[in-house]
Amino acid sequence: MSYATVIPEFVLRQSFIELDARARAQSLMDPGSWRELVGPFDRIESPWLPEQGIAPQFDDGCVVLKGAIAGKATVVIALEGGFQAGSMGEVSGAKMAAALDLATRDSQNGKKTVAVLLLETGGVRLQEANLGLNAIAEVMASILALRQHAPVITVIAGTVGCFGGMALAAGLSSYIVMTPEARLGLNGPEVIEQESGIEEFDSSDRALIWAINGGEQRVAMGVADELVLDDAQKIAAIVRSHVEAGLPAVHRSQQVDLYRERIRALDTSRQIDPLTLRETWGGKTTVSKTRKGVTR
Ligand code: COA
Repeated sequence: MSYATVIPEFVLRQSFIELDARARAQSLMDPGSWRELVGPFDRIESPWLPEQGIAPQFDDGCVVLKGAIAGKATVVIALEGGFQAGSMGEVSGAKMAAALDLATRDSQNGKKTVAVLLLETGGVRLQEANLGLNAIAEVMASILALRQHAPVITVIAGTVGCFGGMALAAGLSSYIVMTPEARLGLNGPEVIEQESGIEEFDSSDRALIWAINGGEQRVAMGVADELVLDDAQKIAAIVRSHVEAGLPAVHRSQQVDLYRERIRALDTSRQIDPLTLRETWGGKTTVSKTRKGVTR
């Protein structure tokens, strides 16, 4: 008996994680609706990487597709985890911020445009330092501007995960979708170990990392909204449902009092374990009732 007979759903699915950034973005959009903006043939690449002996990439690891999802105007911006861990440099950051700003301008002019961010990123590109920091600040400002008009939907599928300043950007989005393989956290495991020692965090301990940063934990804690299996069709369906739902009534990042209270109530005199955190923080914090007069 073959595996396809026993667990056909798993064997016959198309993995989203195995797709590169461009194919991931394409798989989400209405067929034939999209075109790529500032694609590889425009050859806008990082001027800083070659100076450090690193081969640049013609799209700087950031793919921007303009088109539609569920018939609604959408821009999908995907970071390529396979290139410099999807890190944000001057060019990739400018591409993301400009695409978000164009969506805001279109929305202000009456053509509501949703943004979907596919984030596989180690955060600021270490080789571009302050330029990367600045890029992420611009991306965050652009997300805040767009989410006044239309939802910004973040998908973190794996395998890199979403770390550093881009985790803050994810936190500003209207909805976060994760797979169990995905990770979400501010300081990456490598950085915590480097700064505070292996006793604080062992970056080779995958069980520990996923227990804290993994998709299952993040959704169970209510800091991400949907847990979905690594299946391109299922992920596309979840993204479509959020495009159709429109804006949440309240964004997670607006709930400052709720999170302040939760942090205040933590007992830091003892080690907090992931399961207890699920129990005390659990449940959704994005209020997804559609506001009147916004994108549907
Ligand atoms: N900028 C440039 N390169 C980065 C990067 C960044 N922000 N983050 C990761 N990379 C590189 C790694 O150095 C490594 O390069 P190498 O293959 O030449 O050694 C490669 O991407 C893959 O990273 P690796 O750590 O081997 O993969 P992993 O799957 O085990 O872990 C991360 C991925 C992102 C979780 C881990 O690299 C990490 O913790 N990064 C730091 C994230 C962070 O705290 N960023 C803060 C910056 S604001």
